[in-house]
Amino acid sequence: MTIDFESFTPELLRRHPTEKWSRPGIGAWVAEMDFGVPPAVAEVLRAVVDAGALAYPTDRQLAEARAATTRWLARTSGWETDPGQVQLVADVLTALAATLEHLVEPGAPVILPVPNYMPFLTLPEVFGHPVLRVPGTSTPRGRHAMDLEGIDAAFRAGGRLLILCNPHNPVGRVYDREELLALAAVVDAHGGRVFSDEIHAPLVLEPTCRHVPYASLDRRTAAHSVTALAASKGWNIPGLKCAQLILTNDDDARRLAPFSPFLAHQASTPGLLATAAAYDRCDAWLAEVVAHLRANAARLGELVAENLPGVGYHEPEGTYLAWLDTRALPVDNPSRFFAERAGVVTTDGASCGAPGFVRFNLAMARGTLERALRQMGDALAAG
Ligand SMILES: Cc1ncc(COP(=O)(O)O)c(C=O)c1O
Repeated sequence: MTIDFESFTPELLRRHPTEKWSRPGIGAWVAEMDFGVPPAVAEVLRAVVDAGALAYPTDRQLAEARAATTRWLARTSGWETDPGQVQLVADVLTALAATLEHLVEPGAPVILPVPNYMPFLTLPEVFGHPVLRVPGTSTPRGRHAMDLEGIDAAFRAGGRLLILCNPHNPVGRVYDREELLALAAVVDAHGGRVFSDEIHAPLVLEPTCRHVPYASLDRRTAAHSVTALAASKGWNIPGLKCAQLILTNDDDARRLAPFSPFLAHQASTPGLLATAAAYDRCDAWLAEVVAHLRANAARLGELVAENLPGVGYHEPEGTYLAWLDTRALPVDNPSRFFAERAGVVTTDGASCGAPGFVRFNLAMARGTLERALRQMGDALAAG
């Protein structure tokens, strides 16, 4: 299989626009990729549409999606889970909502390392849980790191549930075993809980990094965490509504049991089928996509240096999101400036909890990436 990445031009993508291409300008914001879906996913979707079989899923289809999830986890990270531990849900945000509603005390504060995925800043509050933001710090190599002292202080201030995002949207870190174990020690010392969002796990770009599922570290982390994942980022199917919440604590599973059928009911039939196909049969497609993203991340470094002097950038270790430090630019709101003056739609870092930064989605054709950065550079030069 060889994906023709350059064939996914803005003109083509606008013909059947997804959210990313629904605004004027080059879409470099919401976390979708421009490369369609793997052939095996398209095939199962075509078959189910042709058969008109878009009704409720069978028990077997539900079981297959759960089993495929466990096979994927075992094959890619050596984490042995049981299909009975896989709670199907519509999406990761629903998994977080269910966790907040059923697995933590009402009103218990949530600890959120920032910057972070935008809805995590607001969704807990909607469910009555105040958010304690903990700004990140830096590794000796200048990479983003979680501030463990800040997280410790947030637990001491009453925080009960930490949201861990790994690989991290938006900073692109893939946390290593030592970092995760150090975090686990802090959580454990306070009897805290962790919601581990691992939706970007298939998208590790840096060859020296490996995704380590937090719950797989040891018995403590399995007991104090729940893990959310989905095929929706790796294989580009977020509109199909199917995600998985892995319950590695029997007490959590018991508490969620009465709600389990209703949560699974929200996963769509095409989503279940596509998820099983993605986890079981789409490694080659994913490998090509990851290679393209890795090359785009490297090219973006050159393009930033050429076009956006003064902007800070580290190649993401994982995800397809680049985190640009635009604080030195002579503009008030760089994301708005790029949308209005360069025709490039990015995500304002303020919505991730870090004003002055810009999140740039690099999951696009190389030619589009080059065009976007040229337009951004020209707009800045024009003042
Ligand atoms: C880190 C992270 N978590 C969750 C989501 C949303 O996932 P879902 O559509 O399954 O709710 C996204 C989407 O961009 C994400 O990047």
